[in-house]
Amino acid sequence: MSLDYQVFDPASCHFPPPRVAALPGRFEFAGADDAALLAGVPLLTGRHYSRGRYALGAACRLAGLADGGVLLAPAYHCLSMLDPALALGAEVLLYRLNADLSPDPAALDALAAAKPVKALLATHFFGFVRDFSWLRSWCVARGVVLIEDCSHVLLTERYRAAGAGCYGHFVAASPYKFFPGADGGWLYAPEPGALAGVDTRPANWRDELRGLKQTIEAARQPSVDASDIAALDGQVAALTGQAPSGDDRRQSRAGPSPQYRPHSAAVAALRSSRWLAGHASLTANIGRRQAHYRRWLAVAADLPHCRPLYPELPETVVPYMFPLYIEQPLPHFYWLKQLGAPVWRWDQIAVSACPVASDYRLRLIHLPCHQSLRDVEMDWLLAVLTKVMRSIPARSGR
Ligand SMILES: Cc1ncc(COP(=O)(O)O)c(C=O)c1O
Repeated sequence: MSLDYQVFDPASCHFPPPRVAALPGRFEFAGADDAALLAGVPLLTGRHYSRGRYALGAACRLAGLADGGVLLAPAYHCLSMLDPALALGAEVLLYRLNADLSPDPAALDALAAAKPVKALLATHFFGFVRDFSWLRSWCVARGVVLIEDCSHVLLTERYRAAGAGCYGHFVAASPYKFFPGADGGWLYAPEPGALAGVDTRPANWRDELRGLKQTIEAARQPSVDASDIAALDGQVAALTGQAPSGDDRRQSRAGPSPQYRPHSAAVAALRSSRWLAGHASLTANIGRRQAHYRRWLAVAADLPHCRPLYPELPETVVPYMFPLYIEQPLPHFYWLKQLGAPVWRWDQIAVSACPVASDYRLRLIHLPCHQSLRDVEMDWLLAVLTKVMRSIPARSGR
């Protein structure tokens, strides 16, 4: 099927590469704290993939979407959330979300009343695990398969963040977002035997070596230091003279995006990525992510023209990123990117009637809070955000 997408194309902006890594790059061995955290926690079994999207692809196939049928998916999404179903030739209908990105039950009811639905994709955005027990009941009552998207959640064979992976018939995760491996996707099903017959093939040795090289290089990536913080005032002043640009247009496309490679769909995660995820410290991962998130919260509380999407961090949440709503993406997103901040945004999305998704497409930015960020990197990131949001007069923006 073809979908209409609204696409922001940054080509004309000439953004420099990010100066700080958006995903974790440094490895830290599990220690005694981890042994205590994991004591008595049963190992989960599942299937490893190179990315969460291929785990989602297997879930979509198991849900029967390869035979045609409808997937309900969140209106706010990245392309990799829709690609797996589109690659199978399924029809994707987008459901409305509330401002906190939870599914709107009335929207689900209306879509299910209009057409028979085979599967529902539900996402725990940014690591904030939701109670999906009501969604499970909703699905079971209608014979719909629930695919729980834990791509933003700390969920591995060894550990699952509180409340995650409990209600989906199939559960997909992206360990590479939480550990310093070159790849990693994971499929899990709470029902024993639900993954019987799901096979993957190991990656070849050339890819294993390439993955190791990439992991080592990522750990050595040059980054910022205190002199970069001192240089910010001058850089910000120079930016105010630039005219923000960027091309935003509507596009129609049939099938998945080029980010979905069918020949990778059944390839298992690299051995090195699995080893790293299996031996890295979880307590350091959880503690640092939470501490970094709290630093973002403390700074954003005093800044104009922006507000955190989730201003509270419950103790059980292991955040994936810090989602921040900015009122005026032009100029603020543009200037953050020009300064080399690792800012992500889902600015290519399939068009829907959801006002939250259309609002967040350009205004919700995703800032890193991962465990590998050093103090000076966090200091720099916070200084960049502060200076951009404060010292630059806000102008009208898209
Ligand atoms: C919410 C969500 N689900 C699924 C995916 C697909 O994950 P992956 O990048 O591991 O394929 C992504 C991608 O970032 C995502 O953000």
